[in-house]
Amino acid sequence: MTLKIGVLTGGGDCAGLNSAVKWVTKTATDPLLTDHRGEAMEVIGIREGWKGLVEVDPEDPASLARWTMPLDELVVRTWDRQGGTVLGSSRTNPFNPRNDQSEKCIANIEGLGLHALVAIGGEDTLSVAAGLHRLGQRVVGIPKTIDRDLNGTDYTLGYDSALNVITEEVDRLRTTAGSHSRLFVVEVMGRHAGWLALEGGEASGAHVILIPEHDFEVAKVAELLERRRRAGVRYDIVVVSEGARVKGQGEFVLSDKEDGFGHKVLGGIGEYLAKELEKQTSYETRHVVLSHVQRGGQPSARDRLMGRHYGIAAVDLILEEDFGRMVALRNGQITSISLKQAIEKLYVVDVDQYYDTIRYNGRRSSMLPWSARGE
Ligand code: F6P
Repeated sequence: MTLKIGVLTGGGDCAGLNSAVKWVTKTATDPLLTDHRGEAMEVIGIREGWKGLVEVDPEDPASLARWTMPLDELVVRTWDRQGGTVLGSSRTNPFNPRNDQSEKCIANIEGLGLHALVAIGGEDTLSVAAGLHRLGQRVVGIPKTIDRDLNGTDYTLGYDSALNVITEEVDRLRTTAGSHSRLFVVEVMGRHAGWLALEGGEASGAHVILIPEHDFEVAKVAELLERRRRAGVRYDIVVVSEGARVKGQGEFVLSDKEDGFGHKVLGGIGEYLAKELEKQTSYETRHVVLSHVQRGGQPSARDRLMGRHYGIAAVDLILEEDFGRMVALRNGQITSISLKQAIEKLYVVDVDQYYDTIRYNGRRSSMLPWSARGE
């Protein structure tokens, strides 16, 4: 008997997704492994995440062609080098309380004859995977999000590529900032977690880094920048997370319209901060919103590799019949945790451990006792 495996990518796209789909496919259909396991597998890509699984009509060939894609070694051969997701993605939530389509989803999993499903996604996509598993479906997850805010794993696909984009873009801004003695505020993604801002800011040498985990004061940012200028520096880079908040104020929201998971589109803090800092410091200021540029482009070596390792591990879980789990990286080892654990809370920056609330930047010491840290 041939086991049919479905694979889908959900939520915001990122680099590394195609590598994971490629390695799910290659591992599942590898002829040598098939002989060894005594179990043949075929892989079907579901287009546009959970939307594809809700919309597809397994009885209708035209619908099958629209919403599914048979995958084999030849089809996916070059995918690992490509950014985004060839399968497409959506923010459809089959468990949306305003329009619950979970039963349809389950009927379609059965109609497509899927033995198991691999869901590649972040907290939202994997919360659906967990819900389907609770309802008896054979689902495994692969973690991806440039925000790197999933619990229980040291790595989420897309993070490293996004970090590299931030570093490269800040390098570019640095030369023009220097030429004009300007202050640049760079807004980066990170809805609830400041990892991208913190590590992107650290890697690119930003002078001030602002994260959602620590509300900040504009006057304090201005003072830090003025201190730098007094020390003879001619320009400044501030990296701010889209989810960061000014003390006493709420999030900056671009649109109140919510997606199927109840998220609003964040944005605007970069522009606000640039205007305020120009007023308070009188330095000529510009702002740049890196936005979806961070999710684009070719995957870094790390994302290709992690897509490979995660894709292989997901097939291992299916063969082991270890469903309801997400593959993960912990202490340098590929392992798995329950989907329940992966979505029970977000992995955000531990301010005490990683953030300097005086300098509004990364910490300057890692191993010294607190008293010797000069904070
Ligand atoms: O969750 C990942 C993320 O990239 C967030 O950092 C950002 O707020 C959001 O997606 C943007 O989503 P969309 O693609 O729907 O604009």
